Amino acid sequence: MIKGQPDWNPEGYREHAGFVAELGEPVVQWLAPRAGERILDLGCGDGALSARLAATGCELVATDANPAFVTAARRTHGLDARVMDARALTFEGRFDAVFSNAVLHWIPAAERVIEGVARALVPGGRFVGELGGSGNCRSIVDALRVAVEGYGLDWKAIDPWYFPTPEAYAALLEQGGFRVEEMASIPRPTALPGDITDWLQTFATGIAAYLPAGQRAALFADVREALRDSLCDRQGRWTVDYVRLRFRAFKTG
Ligand code: BEZ
Repeated sequence: MIKGQPDWNPEGYREHAGFVAELGEPVVQWLAPRAGERILDLGCGDGALSARLAATGCELVATDANPAFVTAARRTHGLDARVMDARALTFEGRFDAVFSNAVLHWIPAAERVIEGVARALVPGGRFVGELGGSGNCRSIVDALRVAVEGYGLDWKAIDPWYFPTPEAYAALLEQGGFRVEEMASIPRPTALPGDITDWLQTFATGIAAYLPAGQRAALFADVREALRDSLCDRQGRWTVDYVRLRFRAFKTG
C-alpha cells in the first residue's frame, strides 16, 4: 500500500464511490474512442468505466497499481487489466490514446506519469483525462488539515493529493512533449450516495493511518462535525465541492 493512499477495497468502492465512474462519462466523450483504436486506461480502478470504453470496440488495456482492483476489473468485466505503477509505465509507442479518470490526483509525481504516457503513445497520439483540480474538495481538505494538526501531525507531510491549476498542468504537459488542445476547470458539486463518513472511509483511510488505530474513528467524527453545516442539508444529504480538471492533449513528436 502506498503511504497516504487508502487500502482500496473494490466492493466498498463500488458501494460508496460508484459515482466516480458514472460521472466520468464526459471524459469518455472528450476521448471519443473509435472502434479498433488501441487505448490505455491509466488507473482503471474496479474497471467500471474501462468496460464502457471497451464496449465502443476499441482494443483496451487497463492498468492499476492496486492488485485488488486489477483482479476485480478482470473478473467483473473480463478486461485485459494489468498491475502497473503509473509512474513507471513500460509501454513504448503502443497506443493511439491514453485515458485516465480520477486517478492522477493521487500521484504528485506528475512529470513521471506524463513522461510514461508520452512514451506509450504513437506520434500524434492523444492523452485525455480528468483529475481533481485546484480547489477540489476544499472543505474536506481544510477540515482534515485542521483535524490532523490537532493530533500533532504535519498536514503538508501527509497530504496524499495533487490538485493542480489548469495553468500548472498545461505547462507540465507542454514540457512533456504535448500540445494542449483543451483544458477546463469544472466545479462539480457532487451529492454523495450516503454519509460523509463513508466518503472518508473510502478515500481518507490512508491519512487516518498516520494515527494510532484507536484515534482514527475520532478523527473522522471530528471532520464530519466540522463539515456538517457546510456540506449537509436538512434532509441529511451530503454534497461535496468537487472541482474537475479535464484535458485533451496530443503528443507532438
Ligand atoms: C476526486 O476524485 O476528486 C477525489 C477523490 C478522492 C479524494 C479526493 C478527491
